[in-house]
Amino acid sequence: MKVIENIKKPITYEMELFEKKFRLSMSSRVALLNRITHYIVNRKGKQMRPMFVFLTAKMISNGDVSERTYRGASVLELIHTATLVHDDVVDESDRRRGFFSINALWKNKIAVLVGDFLLSKGLLLCIDNNDFDLLKIISVAVREMSEGELLQIEKARNLDITEAVYYEIIRQKTATLIAACCSLGAASVKPLSEDVETMRKFGELIGMAFQIKDDLFDYGTQQIGKPTGIDIKEQKMTLPLIHVLNQCSKKEKRWLINSIKNHNKDSKRVNEVITFVKQNGGLDYAVLKMKSFQQEALELLKPYPESIYKKSLILMVNYVIERNK
Ligand code: IPE
Ligand code: IPE
Ligand code: MG
Ligand code: MG
Repeated sequence: MKVIENIKKPITYEMELFEKKFRLSMSSRVALLNRITHYIVNRKGKQMRPMFVFLTAKMISNGDVSERTYRGASVLELIHTATLVHDDVVDESDRRRGFFSINALWKNKIAVLVGDFLLSKGLLLCIDNNDFDLLKIISVAVREMSEGELLQIEKARNLDITEAVYYEIIRQKTATLIAACCSLGAASVKPLSEDVETMRKFGELIGMAFQIKDDLFDYGTQQIGKPTGIDIKEQKMTLPLIHVLNQCSKKEKRWLINSIKNHNKDSKRVNEVITFVKQNGGLDYAVLKMKSFQQEALELLKPYPESIYKKSLILMVNYVIERNK
């Protein structure tokens, strides 16, 4: 059996019901919008965020979820989807989940508005049900994601990113949303408990590993349903490159920076940079760091009693770094 099916086993029922609710949560009276949201839900992603919500909720409550858990899962997947639609505009990326991105099919104007629509639908789902504690968790994540994306752009302009700043960027743009999934999962069944903060931290750590993995994909040649090798073209410096820049000679550093600054659209030159990063241990270093975040996350699960939910959550943590898309 595939790993992912194994992980989903204790939440099969919840994930099926979630999918129905998620579809409904996107409805609109505008025909164009409906056409686009149909396109989106029919090309679903890995749905890792709702999985984190249900698995943490069930681990904390030993098997119970509530309507709040379902709403939280829908809101988080809505917001995740909104940020992907916006992200593909920002990154000028034409592929997502193995198909054309929204901006590739309908252009940027429409993609921006669709992203806003999904975001507002998510927030309203909380408001309409008076889930203000959940809304707070989610709104913090939304703010941090925008800040993270902007910090990334700022750093791409100056090409002066340090390892510490890289961690701050990925914490904001990716880890906070996964942190929100896990803390919300806990808060949906046990509000105001210490578990809410523990699970937030857990989600943040695994979110860091998740984004390092995503950045490693960009250096690979594997088919992952979205373009690879575009980070350097976008002047986006990620951990493998940052590490190599810190290690190499002054001359090599000049060549690297010059390549990224002035030759980032030249495929041959970009490939040379990628090869240089690989040969100088950039990927190995990133893998090491990814695993260290993963271990830190697993430590936080130790005090919880053994259960099928905890077991799945551990499998999920491992899946984050072993996945092939
Ligand atoms: C992609 O997230 C965006 C990142 C934060 C790297 P996922 O890899 O979870 O995307 P889908 O939902 O499965 O397509
Ligand atoms: C993902 O950023 C984070 C957000 C969507 C906010 P990336 O640009 O690194 O993700 P992919 O690789 O396009 O999915
Ligand atoms: Mg992108
Ligand atoms: Mg991006």
